[in-house]
Amino acid sequence: MQNIDNFNFAGKKAIVRVDFNVPLNDEGKITDDTRIRGALPTLKKILADGGALIIMSHMGKPKGKVNPKMSLGRIADAVAEKLGTAVKFAPDCAKAADAAAALQPGEVLLLENLRFYPEEEGKPVGIDKADPAYEAAKKEMKASQKEFAKTLASYADVYVNDAFGTAHRKHASTAVIADYFDADSKMLGYLMEKEVNAVNAVLGNIKRPFVAIMGGSKVSSKIGIIENLLGKADKLILCGGMTYTFAKAHGGEIGASIVEMDKLDVALNVEKVAAEKGVELVMATDAVCTNGLDFGTMTVKPGSVIANYPANAIPEGLEGVDAGPEAQKAFAAAIKGAKTILWNGPAGVFECDEFCAGSRAIGEAIAEATAEGAFSLIGGGDSVACCTKFGLTDKVSYISTGGGALLEAIEGKVLPGVAAIKGE
Ligand code: 3PG
Repeated sequence: MQNIDNFNFAGKKAIVRVDFNVPLNDEGKITDDTRIRGALPTLKKILADGGALIIMSHMGKPKGKVNPKMSLGRIADAVAEKLGTAVKFAPDCAKAADAAAALQPGEVLLLENLRFYPEEEGKPVGIDKADPAYEAAKKEMKASQKEFAKTLASYADVYVNDAFGTAHRKHASTAVIADYFDADSKMLGYLMEKEVNAVNAVLGNIKRPFVAIMGGSKVSSKIGIIENLLGKADKLILCGGMTYTFAKAHGGEIGASIVEMDKLDVALNVEKVAAEKGVELVMATDAVCTNGLDFGTMTVKPGSVIANYPANAIPEGLEGVDAGPEAQKAFAAAIKGAKTILWNGPAGVFECDEFCAGSRAIGEAIAEATAEGAFSLIGGGDSVACCTKFGLTDKVSYISTGGGALLEAIEGKVLPGVAAIKGE
């Protein structure tokens, strides 16, 4: 497999898939540039070698339609500033042949959002799966997807995939395009290599105790990784909104807290499997509750109740929005002494200062364990945002740019973006 470090891009045009799906505020300002910073070593190496750079990415989920709010043109200036050089913009990613052909060594062209074309994802649009014509539409779309990938490939001599955040997608620009380059002219970027190594450091060489912390609102979105971790971790902290599905499964009173009524059996089974496998399951016994959280503004309405209750005895009308003080202590105690740590998902509504103590307790305990020699891997936008909010980004071992991609990698799934390059 070709290696980016050994490759000389001088005189070559390189098309690089990055994940610049970064959050923007209402004014279009980037609120977290971790993913752009993460791709810079690859982009700068190509330019420093004397190559020309074509950058491609998606942003958001425009579902195959042009949506100016998700235009990559909105971040072109920020990319130029970070690269320290001008960035040209191609407003139609499938019609950028002339702009790409005109590129000189050291020049940069940013393509418009790939997902403005349904071919990028390769899923037929406007037709229901139940429709008898769906299969034919799917086949037709797969053929168009290949054409789309071929067009993108025609812009360059070399393909580099540095989009770890999107590596779990088998899309035109993340996987199909690789078919149009021979083994010597396609490779993973530095970020991709670093991310894959970080996952291997957790999975391939687990130093024990291994403590995994899974948060977030739903059991259903995390069940795959939870099941997988039950076979690997020594302790598993489950926190965030899923706490209340577990409490409900045992007949607890959870007030107005978030719950997945159709996943109560799943929650009980997680507990059963944990007991069978000897994994210590740590869950919040108490919760910070309120009746006045405005999720739009992430503020508490004046005069609202904020009080601590046992996680299984929350009064009607109140919802659990953070791990309570007892739980915070239990989480910190479980993390202390860990040698391998994985954290994905906050313990509460951390965006709101009143409800971030649970996530803070986790983050700080991870930082402490890391200072004592643990390897800590943090992934998923919210956990990364927690580290930034609490000033912990330099105190953990590795912050991943992947959310879904990281979870799938930890689940042991082959990532199509990596497999397409490695020829797996
Ligand atoms: C992410 O934000 O996790 C990646 O950019 C992938 O986005 P997707 O879930 O829309 O494919």
